[in-house]
Amino acid sequence: MDKVGRVLIEEEALNKRIKELGMEITRDFQGKKLVMVGILKGAVVFMSDLAKHIKLPLEMDFMAVSSYGASTKSSGVVRILKDLDLEVEDKDVLIVEDIVDTGLTLHYLCDYLLSRKPNSLKVCSCFDKPSRRKIPVTIDYLGFEIPDEFVIGYGLDYDQKYRNLPYVSVLELEKDDK
Ligand code: IMP
Ligand code: MG
Repeated sequence: MDKVGRVLIEEEALNKRIKELGMEITRDFQGKKLVMVGILKGAVVFMSDLAKHIKLPLEMDFMAVSSYGASTKSSGVVRILKDLDLEVEDKDVLIVEDIVDTGLTLHYLCDYLLSRKPNSLKVCSCFDKPSRRKIPVTIDYLGFEIPDEFVIGYGLDYDQKYRNLPYVSVLELEKDDK
């Protein structure tokens, strides 16, 4: 765990905010056909916690798109690795993302999901790094805005590790990793 730097968001703060988001979503999606579409793998931890606070009937689906490899820089290339299993036409889709950074992934996903003709499309992201944006995107439900630092934990990985940390930390690379 030598790469886990200072804690940015504690477990208690995460739990509190996610409960609030669940209540907001519960209020806004009354009478709708909610389908949560989680983006693998980063959103898994957030989505399962969030879903428990949404007191409505809902469906869950997942998509996987190419993202970072073992590097902390975005390739800017988005490719679908796993498509939806469910039909979302005329349903109320809520994209559940871990973090919006450049916005490239989310921009692509919104375009793609709109082509499946949902009744509505909204976005919920646990974290946002607005200073890194390359393309404008709308986040309807946001957990936390964070500074331009590479973070790990609560679903977020570095080289596929640290997703299971129950808090969010800053990644601390040793000199020879950089
Ligand atoms: P974007 O397309 O640049 O907005 O990148 C979005 C994806 O990059 C997220 O869904 C994450 O998987 C990954 N990502 C961006 N910033 C971080 C970070 O600080 N830690 C871990 N993963 C990140
Ligand atoms: Mg992601």
